[in-house]
Amino acid sequence: MSQGALHQSQRRKTRAMRRTAFSIPLLLVVAMMGCRSSSTNQASPSQPATPPAPEITKAIAVLHPTKGHDVHGIVTFTRTPGGIRVVADVQNLEPGAHGFHIHEYGDCSADDGTSAGGHFNPTGMPHGGRHAEKRHVGDLGNITADASGRARAEFVDAHLSFEGTTSIIGRAVIIHARADDLKSQPSGAAGPRVACGVIGIAKP
Ligand code: CU
Ligand code: ZN
Repeated sequence: MSQGALHQSQRRKTRAMRRTAFSIPLLLVVAMMGCRSSSTNQASPSQPATPPAPEITKAIAVLHPTKGHDVHGIVTFTRTPGGIRVVADVQNLEPGAHGFHIHEYGDCSADDGTSAGGHFNPTGMPHGGRHAEKRHVGDLGNITADASGRARAEFVDAHLSFEGTTSIIGRAVIIHARADDLKSQPSGAAGPRVACGVIGIAKP
């Protein structure tokens, strides 16, 4: 083959490759358009593009002591038809009642727990007791420690949820040194924070 003929055949090959390279994306576009039009015919316009997030059925907060305290505990939150079932088991408390709240931020980084912010109050209500008509979503009243310093509580609370504006996921449980008087604003005069734990999604 002469030098000229070799060049010519290479040019032909290149032209052929260019044609192929051009036609493949064109075919893909046509195929995708076909798919899209058929899927829009089938799917309802209200259907979201991504599947919905899996439903959360259980959450947990592991309570760690703030500086100068030794309070530990576990609080679980479980979805029930009537609301969220709260089960608390807290140890190394002073005997008596202690404010028990959900605070706005799931941030226990400060030595004194103040990084958790104020009471979780997405509905703009005044502070109150758990059974008060007007209360913060985070107002869970008090837990009472026995002579050994252990406090256990279990109740279902209809104000708490795992989704929407009242979702408690990613917020914090705080236990206070003193009792919540259920009326003082803005937080029941319950004193310093002795334990803090972030509410996270738990295995069902
Ligand atoms: Cu509190
Ligand atoms: Zn409150």
